[in-house]
Amino acid sequence: MSGYSVVVADNLCNSSVEPLRRIEKLTGQPVTFYNIDLRDEPALENVFAQENFDGVIHFAGLKAVGDSVTNPLGYYDNNLLSTIVLCRVMARHNVKQLVFSSSATVYGIQASPKYVETMAMAPVNPYGHTKAMIEQILADLCMSDPTWRITALRYFNPIGAHPSGLIGEDPNGIPNNLFPFVMQVAVGKRPELIVFGNDYDTVDGTGVRDYIHVVDLALGHIAALEHDPEPGSYATYNLGSGSGSSVFEVVDAFKTASGRDIPYKVAPRRSGDLAIYYADPSKANRLLNWKTAKTLADACADGWKWQSQNPNGYAS
Ligand code: UFG
Repeated sequence: MSGYSVVVADNLCNSSVEPLRRIEKLTGQPVTFYNIDLRDEPALENVFAQENFDGVIHFAGLKAVGDSVTNPLGYYDNNLLSTIVLCRVMARHNVKQLVFSSSATVYGIQASPKYVETMAMAPVNPYGHTKAMIEQILADLCMSDPTWRITALRYFNPIGAHPSGLIGEDPNGIPNNLFPFVMQVAVGKRPELIVFGNDYDTVDGTGVRDYIHVVDLALGHIAALEHDPEPGSYATYNLGSGSGSSVFEVVDAFKTASGRDIPYKVAPRRSGDLAIYYADPSKANRLLNWKTAKTLADACADGWKWQSQNPNGYAS
């Protein structure tokens, strides 16, 4: 707990109010909630008229790469317009500190798998383009008005759950990502994991990513909020551990944490996947005084606690 009073605005298109109730239970603090779409400017204006904000963390966005390829207009509309409306309303209310959820996806294909903030952005799908475009918009905004202080956090692969097992990932339908899929196989909701390719040039042939525990990720946001950069500064930080794990390493760690078998089948590579990338987190380590403290084993233990206590997610 960091002592902030929190107000949440969400259209609940991929979530529900149940995690907010559980956050209240965990913290003993009320969470004020507005069920609005950020693109609805009058509704957001009303929120800012009623509340008194020091800063905003902008998590709202669609994030499934495959959906973004089939529905690019929906992705550009949701992700870009929500950000533009939010910044416009913030400016009117003179709230000018913003922390934005960006993604390692902005790097795309680079000469080195160790991504560093100085690399030029080169996303390869509409979802990634929305994140890169938003970063550009935010950088331009800071240039135009030096009273803004904006930080974009480039998440690597967030996994795990709150250690209480009360809050965790509850995807709609079939999970797109490795970790929730593995959790659902372990708990018996799905028969087997499909491993997308075992012929990559990596330690065991499967894809390698930089997995980061959601609690470390959350603490990265607090560090960003509390960092006091120069006014007018726009800054980007990688939030990752600095090392990668393969698909098989994640599966083995989850087997150990859960004591369950994780049957799998190897299938062809998934289109658009890269073999390996991971963060250079040294900028966040140095300037935000933040680094990951939790391991892959911690994330698996907490993920299993969540999934085994809530086999059907928040509907359990
Ligand atoms: N994988 C499988 N089987 C699955 C799901 C994933 O083998 O069922 C493999 C993938 O091929 C990859 C690794 O597990 O090697 C991780 O895949 P995820 O889908 O969990 O994560 P990605 O790295 O593909 O995607 C993440 C975020 C995206 C973001 C992307 C790029 O989820 O939002 O990183 O930074 F765009």
